[in-house]
Amino acid sequence: MDVVINEKARQALNRLAAMPGMAQVKDQVEQMIQFRRVAELRKKNRLKNQPQSNHMVFTGNPGTGKTTAARLIGEAFAEIGLLNRKGDEVPFVEINHSKITGPHVGESEKNIAAAFKKARGGVLFIDEAYAFIGKSEHRTDEKVIATMVQYIEDLRDQIIVIAAGYPKNMAEFLSFNPGLASRFPNSIHFPDYSIPDLVRIAQQMLLDQEYQPEQDYLDTLASVLWVEKSKPNFGNARTVRNHVERSIRRQSMRVSQMVQPSRKDLAALTAADIVHSPAGVQASEREALQRIIQEAQGRLFELDLRSILKV
Ligand SMILES: Nc1ncnc2c1ncn2[C@@H]1O[C@H](COP(=O)(O)OP(=O)(O)OP(=O)(O)O)[C@@H](O)[C@H]1O
Ligand SMILES: [Mg+2]
Repeated sequence: MDVVINEKARQALNRLAAMPGMAQVKDQVEQMIQFRRVAELRKKNRLKNQPQSNHMVFTGNPGTGKTTAARLIGEAFAEIGLLNRKGDEVPFVEINHSKITGPHVGESEKNIAAAFKKARGGVLFIDEAYAFIGKSEHRTDEKVIATMVQYIEDLRDQIIVIAAGYPKNMAEFLSFNPGLASRFPNSIHFPDYSIPDLVRIAQQMLLDQEYQPEQDYLDTLASVLWVEKSKPNFGNARTVRNHVERSIRRQSMRVSQMVQPSRKDLAALTAADIVHSPAGVQASEREALQRIIQEAQGRLFELDLRSILKV
């Protein structure tokens, strides 16, 4: 099998690289591909090889792009020839514990088997994989895990299995069964996005839909996200998507009041279109934020003054 990065694979990798904050993920995937390429060349030259595994663990908080990256990586791997597939489509099957488990004996194993078969030639994405090992006081799913391990092994040339979840939980998942850790040698961490990355993501989402965010929109969004980011359960890019959708709705209400909105009016988003967090930014937080902004403005003013006075 030749491992060649063709045009379509390159496109999928470029789409990944174009996503703000994904450069590291793309580099890691490229490394995996090059490793596989060299392994295949070694095989051709009858040199010893470690067994290769395409399976991966993705760790990261909600909304850090794990599912999105998994799809693109699946497309790239299928194009490169790392997956034996039949048609043009690259299947992407996403499962989680509640989708798989059922009340009847043997039902979960049957569902797992069906999911693996459906994902042949593509990606089986197991979200919150650690849920399959149950709680420490109530381990019920050993049979399901055993079935999983069996299929991961049997279909290793046809499927990439990506198991995703929080870092701590994933470590627990991998140590649950000795077969698991060795089958998932590749691990990619998706860090929380920085505020500039989140703003870039919003900008990209808006430009894709032919909206033009003005500077005051982006500045206000940055301060709102700055407050929201410190709260538990912050949804990273998903929170950004929600903001974007809500501001598009609010903008259309604002524009509908205009007698004859211009093309520019129809595209522009301003700070007035931002809906602060659904419950409203807490008054105290808003005050704290205002204070910080005032302080920063004060410092800027001082700097300007110094440069004018040359002190
Ligand atoms: N770097 C990015 N650039 C643009 N959009 C992004 C980026 N990362 C994520 N998104 C968007 O944010 C949303 C959430 O991303 P995704 O579903 O991939 O996150 P996730 O890590 O799988 O989240 P969860 O753990 O909650 O399943 C999607 O709408 C996706 O398109
Ligand atoms: Mg996801």
